[in-house]
Amino acid sequence: MNTSSRYARQFEVLRGKAMDDVVGVLMRRHESRRGGLWYSSQFLPAGEVVVPEDDETARDLRKRASTLPDWVRVSIALNIWTEEGLPHFHRLLAGVVGYDSNLGKWNNLWTAEEDRHGNVLRDYARAARIFDFLSFEIQQFEYIRAGFNPPWAASPFKVFVYTTLQEKATQISHGRTGAAAGRHEPLLEQILRKVAEDEARHYAFYLDLYKAVIDQDPNGALVAANEILPHIDMPGVSMPDFGDYVEVEARAGIYTLRNYKAVVEGVLRHWGVSTRQNLDPEGTLAQEEICAIPERLEKAAQRIERRLLNKKTFSFRVIHGREFTL
Ligand SMILES: [Fe+2]
Ligand SMILES: [Fe+2]
Repeated sequence: MNTSSRYARQFEVLRGKAMDDVVGVLMRRHESRRGGLWYSSQFLPAGEVVVPEDDETARDLRKRASTLPDWVRVSIALNIWTEEGLPHFHRLLAGVVGYDSNLGKWNNLWTAEEDRHGNVLRDYARAARIFDFLSFEIQQFEYIRAGFNPPWAASPFKVFVYTTLQEKATQISHGRTGAAAGRHEPLLEQILRKVAEDEARHYAFYLDLYKAVIDQDPNGALVAANEILPHIDMPGVSMPDFGDYVEVEARAGIYTLRNYKAVVEGVLRHWGVSTRQNLDPEGTLAQEEICAIPERLEKAAQRIERRLLNKKTFSFRVIHGREFTL
């Protein structure tokens, strides 16, 4: 099947009545599990009414945060930028689902929920004074301006494979960054735990959405998944020092290729990839190649782990160029 008829088929599946019904059910499940929304100002007071204790609270926050290790700060910066990439993600989703369906409604709901993640983390970083904030803002501006146009952006199926993996990856990364910060800063741990809980619910939505896609078009869905699963890039890939940020998270055990391998194994299990039957030759080949991905990731993870045994010195503008070794 050529690319344009393949994509036309993908649009047909995603915009069809059957998929719209599935998305309606998944959205209702998502809203019933949400357990009440939270907002940044519930963690960090921002209202008009100032009470005398506010100054003391702010001082205590800065004092606790001043003890955060540099590698935790760097991880927080990367996690904030991942969240602040939201304009890119909203656009990618809107490009493949439009707005006149349940998936269009989901994109708006999901965007509103995700927007709080960037808000609360940025508010925290600003109030706690953990960065050279102007440097942080300049780097964020450049990163948003650089855009994010991955080669798979025009493929509706690939976009949803990507979001499934990305949600789980961010859940792990926020959760682990929070755990690492918790000894110094319990409030940050609390915030990151809330964000990670949202990511877990988003992951559950996309995971089951794509399972339904595979049920409806197993061959097309597996061919698309096979192109995304081996490796996912985050929008920050355009940043000149992005590789160093990623390496800090890997060396700190916050997010590693081994974690990614576990993410891939989890989605393959849930989607029942290895047991799908009656596939056409293209689908069968994709199934075989997908099932071999975890082993390839394992080998790559071992190679990286050997390399990480030697300590390395890092320096980042967002923490005033201070050096640290990890
Ligand atoms: Fe998020
Ligand atoms: Fe999310």
